Amino acid sequence: MTGALGAYQEGVESLTGLTVEDEVLQGLAVLLKKSVHARWAAVYFRNRERTGFDPVRSNGLPPRYLRLFQQLPLPAEKIPLLKSVLQRRKHLVISAGEGLEALPVTLRGFLRGFALLAVPMLVRNQVEGIAFVARRTAEPSFSPDEIELAKLMVSHAALVASHISLFNDSLEMSVAMARRSDVIFTLDEINKSISSTLSHDKIIETAVERIGWIIQCNFITVLVQEKGALVVQVTRGSGVRVPEPFSRGNRLIGRNLAEDAFDAGESRQIICLSAREGLDLPDASLRDARLESLLAIPLVSKETTKGVLLLGRCEPGQFSAEDIFAIEKIAAQMAVALENARLYEEMRELFISTVTSLTNAIDAKSPWTMGHSARVMHLSVAIAGEMGLDEATTERVRLGSLLHDIGKIGVVDALLDIQAPLSATEFTPMLLHPEVGVSILAPIERLHDVLPGILHHHERFDGTGYPKGLKGDVIPLEARVIAVADAYDAINSNRPYRGGLPTDALAELSLHVGSQFDPEVVQALARHCAKRDLERLTLSA
Ligand SMILES: [Fe+2]
Repeated sequence: MTGALGAYQEGVESLTGLTVEDEVLQGLAVLLKKSVHARWAAVYFRNRERTGFDPVRSNGLPPRYLRLFQQLPLPAEKIPLLKSVLQRRKHLVISAGEGLEALPVTLRGFLRGFALLAVPMLVRNQVEGIAFVARRTAEPSFSPDEIELAKLMVSHAALVASHISLFNDSLEMSVAMARRSDVIFTLDEINKSISSTLSHDKIIETAVERIGWIIQCNFITVLVQEKGALVVQVTRGSGVRVPEPFSRGNRLIGRNLAEDAFDAGESRQIICLSAREGLDLPDASLRDARLESLLAIPLVSKETTKGVLLLGRCEPGQFSAEDIFAIEKIAAQMAVALENARLYEEMRELFISTVTSLTNAIDAKSPWTMGHSARVMHLSVAIAGEMGLDEATTERVRLGSLLHDIGKIGVVDALLDIQAPLSATEFTPMLLHPEVGVSILAPIERLHDVLPGILHHHERFDGTGYPKGLKGDVIPLEARVIAVADAYDAINSNRPYRGGLPTDALAELSLHVGSQFDPEVVQALARHCAKRDLERLTLSA
């Protein structure tokens, strides 16, 4: 037994230092065969579902039986000897292959020539695995000392393997937790981003960009229902080409997964697109783009479905429950944000149309200025677009240009209708209209950031304008844009004192670049006019 103890000590030391479960079980098979002088040893370990035991490692098995062992799980409930080991949690000596009826005939025949020692791998009184040690039936049977040694080795290996397994499980759990908190953090980011804007397009763009942060997919598209059809708002492809039916602005024609999800108000999946037959154009085009799995999630706000978020991957298979959970949360946020944006847009349009009516009334005081404010607004917004101004500045330009002459409400009608350039005495009351406009609008809080554009729209770039004589970039950008659009429309309109002569307004404005007008704004106007003229030419051709 002294030699056996030495072998045990040496064996357990070698197992203790291992960090991979598989290596421990291999080490156990080697140790058992060597220390118990067996013909071979084989180790089985419980599967993940705990429904049976999978072959793990062996040592000394003849090659023709090794392959069989590697492919043969042991269904615990079907094999009487395993049932016995499981129930009693004690070792068992089996001779002449008894109790192995559930095994293939070949293996039963092979085992018939061996005496087996089956030792349960116990951890916290649970059977985690079973080690088999075999000797030929003609050889001496296992002695009590040998059985005890085998049990000690198996018990030690079970403990080491269990610790490694626990460590790996907790590591996996930590990774899963980290991923989950990453998803929650990203969801919060998405929420903040899409709630901070009331622009329909920006909400969709932001959501699509952020979905790519947390979900691995090759295709994302957002569809919104318009006049009875799903219309593509935006599509992103990663590693796949975007099929034509999913180009921006297209209406999906033909039955498709997104429509199914829209009609049902519930998520829908296709896990293997290439195996589907009879697909209509939209989904067939996705299959042809080599996408295999699709997930469609409806955008629902206030119990009404507004559209669908459609995601695709090149690999077949289900989207994980975690992915679906995250995308459904994003879809819900998007739906609410899009509904808010729609309501805001409705209110904004109502506001603009109300203000347009008011300015039309002022413009109509003189037949020469009819529609002037609305035209200046459209032109100012076009210039802002050419200059690449941001959304907030463009909005200030839009409202400021529409309201720039509201102060003329205080100028007597007779002055507005004079058919000649104004004299110095006549001009003085007219000089006050920017300030009068500001005092009229000042009580309206919503318009506070629009006032600088109105107050300074008669400043000149060289500092000789009114009311403050501001110069260059000190003049608010909105005012510099409005000044150019205002002058352009004035030149083009049949002002009484011009006698309606046709004039090249852009050429005339260019004479005053740098003195009256901001050169960059005039350049933007020139680009806009060139594009507009080209469009007109194309239309008339
Ligand atoms: Fe004006």
